Amino acid sequence: MQRRPWLSHTVIIIVILASIAVEMCFYKKIFHRSAQRKVVDYVQSQPQQAQLVTNPGTVEPGQYLSGLYYSNWSPYSPRMHFPHDIDLSRVSHIYYAFFLVDGATGALKLGDEWSDVGMDLYKPMAIKLNKLNPEVKNDLERQRRILPNGCLGELFYMRNANLFPNRNIRDFKVIMCVGGWSNREEFPKMVRNPKRVDKFIDSCIETMFKYGFDGIDLDWEFPEDDGFEPQMYLQLAKRLKERMNELEDAIFGPNMNHPKFQLSMATPAFSEKLDILPITEMDKYIDIWNMMTYDYHGEWSEKTGYHCNLYNGSTKSFDETHQKHIYSTESVEGLDAHSAIEHMLNVAGVNSHKICLGMAAYGRGFTNVVAQSTDKRFIDKPFHGVGGASDGEPGMWLYNQLPIQGTHELFDPDYVSGFCYSSTSKTFVGYDSVESVRFKAQYVREKNLAGGFWWESCGDDHANQSRSLLNAFTNEIKFVSKFDDLMYRQTPVLRYYVNKFGNDAFLSPFILNLLAGQGEAPH
Ligand SMILES: *[C@@H]1O[C@H](CO)[C@@H](O)[C@H](O)[C@H]1NC(C)=O
Ligand SMILES: *[C@@H]1O[C@H](CO)[C@@H](O)[C@H](O)[C@H]1NC(C)=O
Repeated sequence: MQRRPWLSHTVIIIVILASIAVEMCFYKKIFHRSAQRKVVDYVQSQPQQAQLVTNPGTVEPGQYLSGLYYSNWSPYSPRMHFPHDIDLSRVSHIYYAFFLVDGATGALKLGDEWSDVGMDLYKPMAIKLNKLNPEVKNDLERQRRILPNGCLGELFYMRNANLFPNRNIRDFKVIMCVGGWSNREEFPKMVRNPKRVDKFIDSCIETMFKYGFDGIDLDWEFPEDDGFEPQMYLQLAKRLKERMNELEDAIFGPNMNHPKFQLSMATPAFSEKLDILPITEMDKYIDIWNMMTYDYHGEWSEKTGYHCNLYNGSTKSFDETHQKHIYSTESVEGLDAHSAIEHMLNVAGVNSHKICLGMAAYGRGFTNVVAQSTDKRFIDKPFHGVGGASDGEPGMWLYNQLPIQGTHELFDPDYVSGFCYSSTSKTFVGYDSVESVRFKAQYVREKNLAGGFWWESCGDDHANQSRSLLNAFTNEIKFVSKFDDLMYRQTPVLRYYVNKFGNDAFLSPFILNLLAGQGEAPH
């Protein structure tokens, strides 16, 4: 008798817990199903576009890289941006963000399992690709059952399926980005424990290969100047590159001419952070330096400023006919892309062919800017608040939300930045525009840089060709690098994959099918 109240409490608690658990599963299902439905509705409502097949003649195999960071939060509302929305004929690299470090173990984990490898994108992809080329329908339908899921599955499919013969859209690399701003606190924990570092290296290489990536992009934001963390960053780069080479040897055998996994680094682009990194040493292992030449001003700044300016304003005259230079009064040294590039070239001694210029498919803004109506420029002004149309990110507007309604898009040639200013709300936003991006493409060519890239794809205007930053840049550089020796098109790589991971791993059914198509008996 005494125990009954206790028992009934336990029963109640168990019932409550069980119902919570059931509800959570249910919620997840409903949520995912409705998200899926939204995706299909969204794609169906999109106007007919001919992105993948436009101007195939203007972009030819050649010299410059054109990279896009694609985030695994892009598929969610309100962004609703998918890999199949991108004009892949204009892209050499998709940098897939992010895979996350677990500081407690060193292991790498998926950033968003549903988005990365879970959601079934067959329908929206079929609708979209069918609009572009009706012949793809059969190809896609035939492979329906073996298509890998999620954004990663879609990317793998799109660069392996021969959807557009002669149109050269599939020869791009997909790179696994590790870390990022939200993961910044895990790196210091991981690097302080040798076992976790070992785990991290193993996990990076294994995950990269398992999900069909052509390489790794390191993004530790940012090592502290403590004499230890910068050296550990160097160690990570060294060990990852060595392990990539070992994997290549294991696949292809030693001393063979074969494609290589790429190691790149999302590199801080202001002197305070650049100075502390052993760039010259790291350069032995890093293939591409992706310079994060943006975020120079934002909500943290004392005064307004451009956030992705190429110059600091003192390099060019504003108006030749009036012979008048307008200098910025409060420029902070080094808060411009050109300074960072010069540092890489002249101080660190990096070859220009390994440096990629970062561009921003978003703006950073300021509200209640103290400015005169006669002002031509709205930087170095006091402000109050930052506004922003991008949820949860103060002061940020995606490029495709700009210019702010009721304003005009303007261009500042001294700093090389687009901007808009609303005199009614006293809001100023600096961002990369078609004009600034064209200018930056010329800079890339003049400086013999590797190319350019954007953070991040979902901000660009993929629906309007004359607004698209990707279009503007690639039209200007003319030659986007393409790779005819991609890893996962090599039979030894495919064979190694199924031998290592078995027939049920993420890409195995698709890869077995590719092998069968090459006349290889399934394993
Ligand atoms: C602006 O850039 C020029 C050219 O790189 C440089 O010489 C000058 O010191 C910079 N000024 C400031 C304030 O950063
Ligand atoms: C595309 O962008 C151009 C240039 O900004 C603009 O004039 C045009 O109205 C846009 N078209 C659509 C369909 O939004």
